[in-house]
Amino acid sequence: VVAPVIAIDGPSGSGKGTLSQMLASRLGYHLLDSGALYRLVALAALNKKQELDDESGLARIAAALDVRFETDGQSTRIFLDGNHVSDAIRTEDVGMAASKVAAYPAVRDALLARQRGFAQIPGLVADGRDMGTTVFPDAEHKIFLTASAEARADRRCKQLSAKGIFVNRDEVIRDIQARDERDINRSVSPLKPAIDAVVIDSTRMTIDEVFAAMLDIVRR
Ligand code: C5P
Repeated sequence: VVAPVIAIDGPSGSGKGTLSQMLASRLGYHLLDSGALYRLVALAALNKKQELDDESGLARIAAALDVRFETDGQSTRIFLDGNHVSDAIRTEDVGMAASKVAAYPAVRDALLARQRGFAQIPGLVADGRDMGTTVFPDAEHKIFLTASAEARADRRCKQLSAKGIFVNRDEVIRDIQARDERDINRSVSPLKPAIDAVVIDSTRMTIDEVFAAMLDIVRR
């Protein structure tokens, strides 16, 4: 039996993470946070003092990744080598390192089968950059979520300030643009909508409005 897959792609800060979680909870589907896998490879590499320019060394780390996702239907706890790393993988440094690591074809290859393994009954919401193009090209529904770099930076600043972390808005915009640039211009699985994806620009939408639009698409 083939499990239905809903592919949700888009740049960082587009609200994909929150919305994918909401959609998976609503439908009772499994959730794949593929960005977390790239972040885990980056964190494992940083921990092991692995150079970030050694493609085969990074691919070995990706292939051997000892990771566990524990979910209660609302949120997911992530373990690397048995250690709880849900917060450790969300830092800007790990995010930057993840986007470097993710540019290597051998690293992406090493994670492919693991990602496809998440497609289990009753279904999967897959969140990433290349879910609809490379990992699940036959996905039942494909959504590409985007927003202006400024809007995404403002959301990021708000998230951080809620945690008591205050950052420079211009710096956040520059970081987002640098990450976009790398994701869009890499040779393998670049960030771009699948030809059969529905594009939602959330720049002027609330989370609830985007969620309603997504439900509309998957119920079509
Ligand atoms: O989505 P998130 O910000 O957690 O992803 C971290 C990095 O992993 C992204 O900047 C991107 O370079 C990479 N990534 C990817 N393909 C995916 C998911 C994430 O290349 N499917």
